[in-house]
Amino acid sequence: MDVIHSVSALRERLQREPNNVFVPTMGNLHAGHIQLINIAKPRAACTVVSIFVNRLQFGPKEDFDKYPRTLEKDCTKLREAGVDVVFVPDESEIYPEPQTYVIEPSDLQHILDGAVRPGHFRGVATVVLKLFNMVSPHSAIFGKKDYQQCLVLTNMVRQLALPIELILAETVRAEDGLALSSRNRYLSPDERREAPHLYGILCKARDQLATGARDYQRIELDVMAELAHRGWKPDYISIRRQSDLRPPVNGETAMVVLAAARLGGTRLIDNVEVNI
Ligand code: PAF
Repeated sequence: MDVIHSVSALRERLQREPNNVFVPTMGNLHAGHIQLINIAKPRAACTVVSIFVNRLQFGPKEDFDKYPRTLEKDCTKLREAGVDVVFVPDESEIYPEPQTYVIEPSDLQHILDGAVRPGHFRGVATVVLKLFNMVSPHSAIFGKKDYQQCLVLTNMVRQLALPIELILAETVRAEDGLALSSRNRYLSPDERREAPHLYGILCKARDQLATGARDYQRIELDVMAELAHRGWKPDYISIRRQSDLRPPVNGETAMVVLAAARLGGTRLIDNVEVNI
């Protein structure tokens, strides 16, 4: 496995291996990332993973500084998973000058997570486009836990005609249902015990929709109240359609219930799809 720090060395390495599939990450790797790599590996001769904590997608009051950086452990996991190239750029490689040209992901960046985290999806889309230009993969894999991110990137690839196939992978969960996330490590033991309830209430909402309930607002308010009662501070619980994350219209068959809520100092997100 080659660990590469500069864009020039990366390009040189990948010239020998143009058939590559890409898994972008911010490190602190867990089983969810390994699942993305397992999906990637059979698709190309060379699997490339990037580890870069992207300042551009963090708000001024968010956890950029304390975001866990665990490069040595990450590299051990990547080696075991059979990754060929790990790209670990310094900030100066990705942003050698202030990034004044950015990707604005239209209306999608202002709703749901975008409303709570202004500028987040601009930062995500901009860095992912730059990474795509550095790696030139034919495919890239993203996890559906970041549902809105998946849609932002799918739209970017389509609208900018990027020659890259995006593959979206199902969320990997702990046995108790909690979606795996690098931020789970911020949870205290008590909070960790409580955390799977986020998935639990999403499943409850999904089951109501699946059995014919259509008062979306009522369902959202009920689950929001339940979470608040358990000590969470929900940012949103929202039933949307899968195609564009707009509110569902009558007769909608492909929906997703999305949630973001704080448990103590930790903000967790999760979602479940509902196909009727
Ligand atoms: O999902 C993530 O880890 C990040 O948002 C990504 C796609 C690596 C961009 O920084």
